[in-house]
Amino acid sequence: MALLKFLLCFLLFPLIFPSSIAGAAPMLPPVKAAYWPSWVLETFPPSAIDTALFTHVYFAFLMPDNRSFAFEFPDTTVAALSQFTTSLTRKNPSVKTLFSIGGGGSDSDLFARIASDTSSRQIFIDSSIKTARKFGFHGVDLDWEFPKDTTEMKYFADLIIQWRKTIDREAKTTSRPPLLLTAAVYYASEFLTYGERRSFPAEAISKSLDWINVMCFDYHGSWDTSATGAHAALFDPHTNLSSHYGLRSWISAGVPRNKMVMGIPLYGKSWTLKDPNVHGVGAPATAVGPGDNGILTYVQVQEFNKRTAATVVYDIRTVSAYSYVESSWVGYDSVQSTTTKVEFAQAIGLRGYFFWALSYDSADWEISTHASNAWVDDRL
Ligand SMILES: *[C@@H]1O[C@H](CO)[C@@H](O)[C@H](O)[C@H]1NC(C)=O
Ligand SMILES: *[C@@H]1O[C@H](CO)[C@@H](O)[C@H](O)[C@H]1NC(C)=O
Repeated sequence: MALLKFLLCFLLFPLIFPSSIAGAAPMLPPVKAAYWPSWVLETFPPSAIDTALFTHVYFAFLMPDNRSFAFEFPDTTVAALSQFTTSLTRKNPSVKTLFSIGGGGSDSDLFARIASDTSSRQIFIDSSIKTARKFGFHGVDLDWEFPKDTTEMKYFADLIIQWRKTIDREAKTTSRPPLLLTAAVYYASEFLTYGERRSFPAEAISKSLDWINVMCFDYHGSWDTSATGAHAALFDPHTNLSSHYGLRSWISAGVPRNKMVMGIPLYGKSWTLKDPNVHGVGAPATAVGPGDNGILTYVQVQEFNKRTAATVVYDIRTVSAYSYVESSWVGYDSVQSTTTKVEFAQAIGLRGYFFWALSYDSADWEISTHASNAWVDDRL
């Protein structure tokens, strides 16, 4: 009997609670995710995605109907959804597919209306699960940008708690693996709007979501043309506009590191320099530069650098790259900055990284390939 107790306590204990022995979070397979913008369907169909480079691919985006709060799709969307899951899982049965609800330009007030009430939440949640099962997705993602005050942050919490309960119940009754539930969130866990401090519900997030996709980008852009900027700076000693600051805020809010996935942009931001001879990060500028309102995809940055024979610089201070020629200046993530960020994410114990957006990579998947290789396989 004593021997049995000994065995149970000292031999089986590590098997049951491996994390408490190691003093670390349980090892979970890394997340190497990317969003696929569904509006590139014609030029970049799901069949063009290299599924060896990603563990999770997100269909972006869907929105519920603004009156019924359920998902109702035109035939073209139905076709795109089936094409997405069928072609990805056929190519690589181990890749997981999710659809993302919302997006940067979506109706934030609609989310607030849905999330404010138990029964409207349930209609939305049930419809999301039905849609996922119908089209063979492995999960759903909420990209509500952003709950705008303390009340809406509470709605956000209520929504994900109820969603998780419903997902678990559905998995039980159908004997299927539960759907994944993730959310794309702001780079920091709290921010000020009109003097009000609003914080994401860290406890509800930790309990209800598989992980959050932390949007570690867009720190600078066309809204401020006075200076160039590293729009996805890992570090910035002078301001709170850095991924280091944002991730630290999430960690101190209490979200476990292994529930955080770090966003890396596959696009750059451009400015027009005030003085072509002053061209560092933070150099005086007068307007946006080349691209679509100062935005270039990685493949466009490559093309710009080649065509103009631009000078390319790696900025070790912010962990970013920039290139310039005459008064044109572009800040972006290169192979070097991306792999450094991936190594950083792994070193601090995050679950993985994700890209916005996979179709912006070069034709030979330069960034996605180097990122995938930079994550060290540390399985024992
Ligand atoms: C719902 O969406 C339609 C079409 O976009 C729009 O015309 C209408 O005003 C919206 N209704 C509400 C209540 O937001
Ligand atoms: C960053 O600092 C500015 C100025 O102090 C403040 O207005 C803003 O809310 C801060 N942002 C975050 C995410 O902490």
